[in-house]
Amino acid sequence: MIWKILSYPRFKLTSLPTPMERSIKLGKELGIELFIKRDDVMELCLGGNKVRKLEFIVADAIRKGCDVLITRGATHSNHVRLTAAAARKAGMDVYAVITPPGNMDTQGNILLDRLLGATLVPVEKTEEADDVMRSIAEKLRSEGRRPYIIPAGGASEMGVLGYTLAALEILEQSTLLGVRPEYIVHATGTGATQTGLTLGLKLLGAENVKVIGISNGRKASDVVKRLVELFNSTTSMLGLDVRASEDDFIVYDEYGFGGYGVITREVVETMKYVARTEGILLDPVYTAKAMYGLIDLVHRGVIRKGSTVVFIHTGGSPIPFQYAGKIAEYL
Ligand SMILES: Cc1ncc(COP(=O)(O)O)c(C=O)c1O
Repeated sequence: MIWKILSYPRFKLTSLPTPMERSIKLGKELGIELFIKRDDVMELCLGGNKVRKLEFIVADAIRKGCDVLITRGATHSNHVRLTAAAARKAGMDVYAVITPPGNMDTQGNILLDRLLGATLVPVEKTEEADDVMRSIAEKLRSEGRRPYIIPAGGASEMGVLGYTLAALEILEQSTLLGVRPEYIVHATGTGATQTGLTLGLKLLGAENVKVIGISNGRKASDVVKRLVELFNSTTSMLGLDVRASEDDFIVYDEYGFGGYGVITREVVETMKYVARTEGILLDPVYTAKAMYGLIDLVHRGVIRKGSTVVFIHTGGSPIPFQYAGKIAEYL
C-alpha cells in the first residue's frame, strides 16, 4: 500500500532522504542509542517538517489548476514561511493569516515571509483565522484567481502523506545503519507529522515502533482527537480499510512549559545542552521542548535505557532569531 503513496504526484522541494545521524555524545549521556533525523536540513528556505507535507499539497494545488496558496499560522510559523517558499518555487502567489503569539517585527520567520513576498494578514483573534482565510479566497475567486486553502500546519490528508513516506525513509536508513528503532520522538502540533509516521509504520508492519509526540502546548487529549480524525480521513481518501483509535497515539503534554510559544529557562537550557554536546541548533517553540521531553522520558524510565531512539529534528531554524532577546535572558 505504501507503494500507492509513492506513486502520488509530488512537487519536488528538497532532496530526500535527509541525514540520520548517530548522536554519540548525547546518546551516551542519556544511556540510549540516539539518532537524530535531520529534517531541519533541507534545500527549501531553511527546511523543516512542513517541506515533506508541502510536496504533496503543492502537487495537489497544481493538479487542481490553482494559482495562489492561502494559509495561516502564528508569527513564528515555520509553515507560513515554507508555504510561501513552496508557492514561489511553483510560480504561485501566497497569502498568510497571521495570529498571536508573537509580534510582527521583521525578524525570524516574519522577515523571511516578507522577503518571499507573502501577503501577510494579521488577525488578533486566532479563532477567526479560518473565516479570514475563506473570505480572502472568496475575494480572489471574484477576481478570477484560483485559490487553494491549506489548513494550519499543513494538517491535511495530503500533508499526512509526506510523513507516511518519512516512516519508510527512517526504516530504510535504520536498516543501512544496522539498527532497529524502538521509539521515534518528535514535536507534535497540528498533527500531520505524527499521523503520517503512525500510518507509515502501520502499512509497513512496524507498529511495534512507538511514535511519541511531545505537544508544544496543546492538551494531549485534544491532539490525540485530531490525530485520530486526520488518520481516518487520510485512510478514507486512500480507500484503505484501516482505522485508528485513541490507543494508537502516544502524546505527552507536560513539556509545554506554559503553552505554545512560551519560552522558559528549561527550554533555553535544553537548547544550550544540545548545542554544546552535538553542535545542533534547536528552536525554542517546538524542538527544544520535544528534546526536553525525550530526556525526561528516559530519566523516568518510560523510554528504556539501552533502547534505540530516533529523534526527528523537525526544523524551526529561524525561530531563535525571532526570540533572541528572550533566549539571551537565560544564556
Ligand atoms: C519545527 C516544528 N516542529 C514540529 C511541528 C509540529 O508538527 P505537526 O504540525 O505536523 O504536528 C511544527 C509545526 O508547526 C514545526 O514547525
